[in-house]
Amino acid sequence: MADSVMEIFELDGHQVIQGDALDALDVYVPDGSVDLVFADPPYNIGKVFNETKDKWPSDEAYQQWCYTWLEKCVAKLKPDGSMYIMAATQNMPYLDIYLRSMMTILSRIVWSYDSSGVQARRFYGSLYEPILFCVKDKNVYTFNADAIMVEAKTGAKRKLIDYRKPVPTVYNSKKVPGNVWNIPRVRYRMDEYENHPSQKPTALLERVILASSNPGDLIMDPFSGTFTTSYVAKELGRRSIGIELEEEYIKTGLRRLRMANDYKGNPLRRELRSFEKCHQPDIPSLF
Ligand SMILES: C[S@@+](CC[C@H](N)C(=O)[O-])C[C@H]1O[C@@H](n2cnc3c(N)ncnc32)[C@H](O)[C@@H]1O
Repeated sequence: MADSVMEIFELDGHQVIQGDALDALDVYVPDGSVDLVFADPPYNIGKVFNETKDKWPSDEAYQQWCYTWLEKCVAKLKPDGSMYIMAATQNMPYLDIYLRSMMTILSRIVWSYDSSGVQARRFYGSLYEPILFCVKDKNVYTFNADAIMVEAKTGAKRKLIDYRKPVPTVYNSKKVPGNVWNIPRVRYRMDEYENHPSQKPTALLERVILASSNPGDLIMDPFSGTFTTSYVAKELGRRSIGIELEEEYIKTGLRRLRMANDYKGNPLRRELRSFEKCHQPDIPSLF
């Protein structure tokens, strides 16, 4: 198991907190202070996160654990705050029902991806993960539709012209994305790849953060992993709080957020991937 120590690193509106989310939320995050929560917890499917195995003694124990952090996260949100929750397909129904008593669930999103790996042969392999988009107040919340527009696929080869207008104009071909998001998973050869079993793509977090927050807002991720949420929040001019249990991933966060060059006297460097190892001069730190 990882140490149960708590430590906080802070720079320019970004906090990286090492610790158990349940404790860190109590100690470091004031109630009613956060604009947007993105929570991607361990899924209870037996993945190994550095030193911690993602497996609870029973489904009920896992659900109770989820209810505890969910309740804390809701308390941390401002009255007009929003929350996105990820979970394994088999666990999401419990979280969905639990959350309905505290928030309004506006969208049930399917993050869909393809896989080149061998898939199930005796049933339909899972190629999606569910995401809930919930708000505290269904009448007052941030949703920047214009910031996340995508091309509406009409099937037409040429742009359609609206001749009913006083001056014929090209039809608006942009739309707000629907609730099925086709975004590739992070692959070993992608620039953004980090050594973590369930790193989420920056493209996914970009859509979430652009839609549901404004520049300067505070974004909180209680299970930060590779700190994708904080990294994207910083790129988009938001503030962030990222909590993570494993020291190894805290180092990833500090490096990705450019908050430190060294950790406990050792330079923070991204591990070279196999294809990067030949012909590499000394790689500068922080990348
Ligand atoms: C699904 S991963 C998050 C991945 C992340 N969204 C990313 O893009 O890299 C869940 C993370 O939660 C961390 N974790 C597990 N239990 C925790 C706890 N009690 N408090 C804080 N972090 C925890 C794990 O170490 C793991 O890195």
